[in-house]
Amino acid sequence: MRAIRHHEFGGPEVLAVESIPTLDPDADEARVRVVAAGVNPCDALRREGLWGDPLPLIPGSDLAGEVTAVGDESEYDVGDRVFGTVPMLNVSGSRGDRQGTYAEEVVVRTDRLAPLADDVSFAEGAAVGLVGCTAWRGLVEFGRLRPGGTCLVHGGTGGVGHVAVQLAAAMGATVVATAHPDRLDDLLRLGADHAVDYTDDDALVAVVDALDSPPEVVFDHMFGAHAGLDVEVVAPGGSVVVIGGNHDQPRMPDLTAAIGKDVTIQPFDVFNLAHIDRVLRHLSALMSSGDLSVRVAHRYDLDEAAAAHRAVEGERFVGKLVVEP
Ligand SMILES: NC(=O)c1ccc[n+]([C@@H]2O[C@H](COP(=O)([O-])OP(=O)(O)OC[C@H]3O[C@@H](n4cnc5c(N)ncnc54)[C@H](OP(=O)(O)O)[C@@H]3O)[C@@H](O)[C@H]2O)c1
Repeated sequence: MRAIRHHEFGGPEVLAVESIPTLDPDADEARVRVVAAGVNPCDALRREGLWGDPLPLIPGSDLAGEVTAVGDESEYDVGDRVFGTVPMLNVSGSRGDRQGTYAEEVVVRTDRLAPLADDVSFAEGAAVGLVGCTAWRGLVEFGRLRPGGTCLVHGGTGGVGHVAVQLAAAMGATVVATAHPDRLDDLLRLGADHAVDYTDDDALVAVVDALDSPPEVVFDHMFGAHAGLDVEVVAPGGSVVVIGGNHDQPRMPDLTAAIGKDVTIQPFDVFNLAHIDRVLRHLSALMSSGDLSVRVAHRYDLDEAAAAHRAVEGERFVGKLVVEP
């Protein structure tokens, strides 16, 4: 089968199409013909060598496609439509293979998969896994956002952000979100109640001050840039949930202010989530009910994976990119 693989760390040019053997699933796994693979910023960071993974490496954590083979314990049948998200280093854990999803077929543990409803496209299914589980962990698991509560989502038109905004809106929360000034209408269309320019901290403080109650959850993917602001606007006793810290400019929040307000600062990794399949099923239900619509901004053929990486690193778009093997 064809897959994207790289044998050294570096820029997008290290990605190449190669022919590699197809694997057979273990008992708790399924093999999936990948119709679409989601592209995430971490794919590019991993390609650059941020985590120093062993090489060669097939990029990609997100997938949607059809089951082509199953292990003895699998709840799936050949031909089932599925979607899922897999930690890159644990795709086929028992053998220690590290097979990402930018490939024609991939072997996946079934607890990383969920059925893909007929009314949800493969591209949307491939786009939602990692970002949807991240949004769910941040808002529900760690943020404990209540129906009718209030949250702030930074970068609400990004991959994670556009799902977080919709998830919070579907919970009946009041949603304040930030984006590039050209994208504020997109935020409102996604369900945000208040859309704020991400460069205008004063405007954000003014919007929060005018709310009936300040956000009990602040969802931040660029903590290095926003730490002080987050602590300033979050409600006393609230949570700042952190998925990214600006590797080049790590900064501590004002701990005195955080202590004074009993603020919880909670960094987390999506792949420490205990029951990925349960959250995937929840996301699937939200997509089928129309409460969650994952935006697929661009699709790329397998041999265009390098272009997809250049885009995820440097272009402005709403939602997600997918590679279609
Ligand atoms: N910890 C975890 O488990 C986890 C999980 C998922 C993602 N992440 C990390 O979280 C980050 C976001 O992921 P993603 O998939 O959502 O990436 P993405 O699709 O590239 O979205 C990033 C968003 O940030 C916006 N942005 C740029 N400058 C900003 C600023 N100063 N303030 C607020 N927003 C700003 C961008 O807007 P414009 O493009 O319009 O400028 C874009 O919408 C990445 O660093 C990723 O590695 C971590």
